[in-house]
Amino acid sequence: MEINPKSHIMEQIEIFPLNSDYLEDVLEIENLCFSTPWKKISFISEFHLSYSFSFGIVSKNDNKLRGYIFFWLVCDEIHITNLAIDPAVRKEGLGSSLLKFLIQMGSDVNVKKIYLEVRKSNHAGKALYNKFGFVQTGYRSQYYSDNQEDALLFTYFFED
Ligand SMILES: CC(C)(COP(=O)(O)OP(=O)(O)OC[C@H]1O[C@@H](n2cnc3c(N)ncnc32)[C@H](O)[C@@H]1OP(=O)(O)O)[C@@H](O)C(=O)NCCC(=O)NCCS
Repeated sequence: MEINPKSHIMEQIEIFPLNSDYLEDVLEIENLCFSTPWKKISFISEFHLSYSFSFGIVSKNDNKLRGYIFFWLVCDEIHITNLAIDPAVRKEGLGSSLLKFLIQMGSDVNVKKIYLEVRKSNHAGKALYNKFGFVQTGYRSQYYSDNQEDALLFTYFFED
């Protein structure tokens, strides 16, 4: 199963495959978004993993990186490992655009499901996944090491 790394251009935004050229921009957003941000070494290692893929989103007005999604494609499953949108441009549909893009891609490569862990307290994240038809399928007790917060496992199932 292969991902076709072509860009996806819509009217005002562009979604495109990320690489290490974008590392500093990714880190800037990452540090604004998470209490325990991924470190540079984690992103570098993702860029080198054969089953890890990442896409960025820019708005075409200024061509500035505004968010990204990282995921693993293993067998017929996608695991979202990171999704973040610059706080300066939230609630403008960018997170939705990335998720829609991923669901379309998953459908194109015939995966059976997409899943992810989200903090129990992350209302925006949970609402976003719910909006796209993800359902809660599990619970990981004390999953996050910084505050022992629980994670909810959310899954999107593709129809056969
Ligand atoms: C979660 C996140 C990616 C959403 O990105 P976004 O671009 O603001 O999302 P969108 O504008 O596409 O919003 C889509 C839906 O998400 C939900 N949503 C987004 N922000 C929300 C908020 N602050 N409160 C409640 N619901 C919210 C809504 O259901 C919204 O649909 P609506 O606009 O019809 O109400 C963004 O808030 C973020 O980067 N958060 C920090 C990192 C994070 O939590 N990542 C996910 C970890 S699993």
